[in-house]
Amino acid sequence: WSPKGSGIWRYADMLPLKSGVTMGEGRTPLIESRLKRNLWIKFDGANPTGSFKDRGMALGVTVARESGANKVIVASTGNTAASAAAYAARAGMRAYVVLPKGNVARGKLVQAALHGAEILVVDGFFDKALDLVMEYGTKYAYPLNSFNPWRLEGQKTTAFEIYEDLGCPDNVVVPVGNAGNIYAIWKGFKELNMLGLCPKLPRMIGVQASGAAPLARAWREGLRVPLFVERPSTVASAIRIGKPVNWMKAFIAVQESGGMLVEVDDGEILRAQALLARNDGIGAELAGAASVAGALSLDLPGTTVAVVTGHALKDPDIVEVKTVQVPSHEELMRILER
Ligand code: F0G
Repeated sequence: WSPKGSGIWRYADMLPLKSGVTMGEGRTPLIESRLKRNLWIKFDGANPTGSFKDRGMALGVTVARESGANKVIVASTGNTAASAAAYAARAGMRAYVVLPKGNVARGKLVQAALHGAEILVVDGFFDKALDLVMEYGTKYAYPLNSFNPWRLEGQKTTAFEIYEDLGCPDNVVVPVGNAGNIYAIWKGFKELNMLGLCPKLPRMIGVQASGAAPLARAWREGLRVPLFVERPSTVASAIRIGKPVNWMKAFIAVQESGGMLVEVDDGEILRAQALLARNDGIGAELAGAASVAGALSLDLPGTTVAVVTGHALKDPDIVEVKTVQVPSHEELMRILER
């Protein structure tokens, strides 16, 4: 199902399986930002379905198929659903996606529908959808949320690509929702380190949105266990998560790397999205822009890579569109002369 060496399979030697389903995921651009000195953007919105999830889904769907399953199931704020739907389609499998009602951006819903997933909607937030999948879904279908370790094995390839393009940065900033990705990327860097390739490991910095920041708050207050948020709220719907299932893994990544967990408010996230779009030409979805908001708000020594995890087209409704009516060609010329 894969041309040899396509997508994440380029790193087969570092993965638990040697080949599998692929759509050329990964190999996303690393772009030097004009927003701050020594800031680089790893633009994972450039993946086949527009988010970093494709890295993990390539491996996860492969494992699901090899283990004899014909159905996969995920709870999702949208991107996991879009990616699972597409990769399941490619592997000839059915996908069930369980979504929190009214909390999923339009582009992601459209993708899940387009790729033929069964879309199941529940009242409540993502955390409820995930509880349902963990409690009931796994009996019927192979679960592909980020508690699935194969997903994280695929996602660790982000670190390998950053290393290939830039070497080892001093800081890697990642938006945190369910908290799988920050751990996956950290794991990737540690493996490079074990091979002697990255002697000085980066600090891992996790960024949450203030209305959904149980981990950043726990970190700040020195709590060993986070106080979960019952009603998470942020414009960045991808990370509108109150009880991150991988919270402990995020703590490990941040603790081991000497990093931190911070929060940014919705205003900072919206501003970062606009700044990225207008200065760097990068269209980030809001959750993806959260890492950049974090990087801009912190004084970080050395080189920093901010991972922009999803594409702006995922959530078109968030952007205000201004248009100018052109009644005639005379008016057109007047406008263009301004
Ligand atoms: N950025 C984007 C664009 C996401 O879609 C997600 C998670 C994250 C960051 C956070 O990653 O959960 O590994 O900490 N989206 C999941 C979903 C929850 O269902 O698509 P994380």
